[in-house]
Amino acid sequence: MSRVASIVSGAALVLFGAGCFVVPSMPRSAPEQGVRSVAATESTKSFTATESSSWSPLAIGAAFGLLAAVVTAQPVLAADLENGEAVFQGNCTACHAGGNNSIVAEKKLKKDALVTYGKYDVGAIIKQVTNGNGSMPAFGDKLGPDDIEDVANYVYNKADKW
Ligand code: HEC
Ligand SMILES: *[C@@H]1O[C@H](CO)[C@@H](O)[C@H](O)[C@H]1NC(C)=O
Ligand SMILES: *[C@@H]1O[C@H](CO)[C@@H](O)[C@H](O)[C@H]1NC(C)=O
Ligand SMILES: *[C@@H]1O[C@H](CO)[C@@H](O)[C@H](O)[C@H]1NC(C)=O
Repeated sequence: MSRVASIVSGAALVLFGAGCFVVPSMPRSAPEQGVRSVAATESTKSFTATESSSWSPLAIGAAFGLLAAVVTAQPVLAADLENGEAVFQGNCTACHAGGNNSIVAEKKLKKDALVTYGKYDVGAIIKQVTNGNGSMPAFGDKLGPDDIEDVANYVYNKADKW
């Protein structure tokens, strides 16, 4: 998520920056009426044309960046859950296969159990995975924050589907 957010805000910043060049010229031509507006429009056009050569590639690039960020927003989210699943398969199934708990049977990863033990919350799962709890080992040294966030989201999303 943070990756998408930074891409979007980055693209938005560039777009906003490009917008600053264009917007100030608009009030100048907008209030003008009749014949004079043709000249005004012409001068605005040539002004904009000269300016456009400097900002246009940037704006187009930013627009594509924003488009790509918007278009890929869903797949990126899906990929995070996919990565979460991969992390889960590699690091959690030893004790939590099928959402079960082979050590403390009642502390399953199913929604009912998570709710009962106050863990039906991505933040609480992140904390549990990072620091461990009881007989569950800590993963704070083994997994990066992104992998922990992904696996926590995977567990949370899977809780009512095991
Ligand atoms: C060595 C076995 C083991 C591994 C590996 C393990 N866990 Fe656990 N997990 C446990 C135990 C034991 C508990 C119960 C801890 C307690 O008493 O609070 C638990 C509890 C949990 C809970 C809270 C469940 C509840 O109903 O309260 C979550 C969420 C959880 N684990 C997620 C994970 C994730 C995600 C991973 C992989 C990154 C993982 N666990 C890896 C043993 C393990
Ligand atoms: C735990 O997950 C990480 C990240 O996907 C992976 O590199 C590592 O090999 C996994 N650990 C095990 C024991 O599979
Ligand atoms: C999980 O536990 C249930 C019973 O609580 C059992 O039927 C199921 O086979 C277990 N799943 C796995 C993958 O061990
Ligand atoms: C496990 O988590 C629960 C709830 O967050 C907490 O009350 C408890 O003290 C934790 N146990 C250990 C051993 O850290």
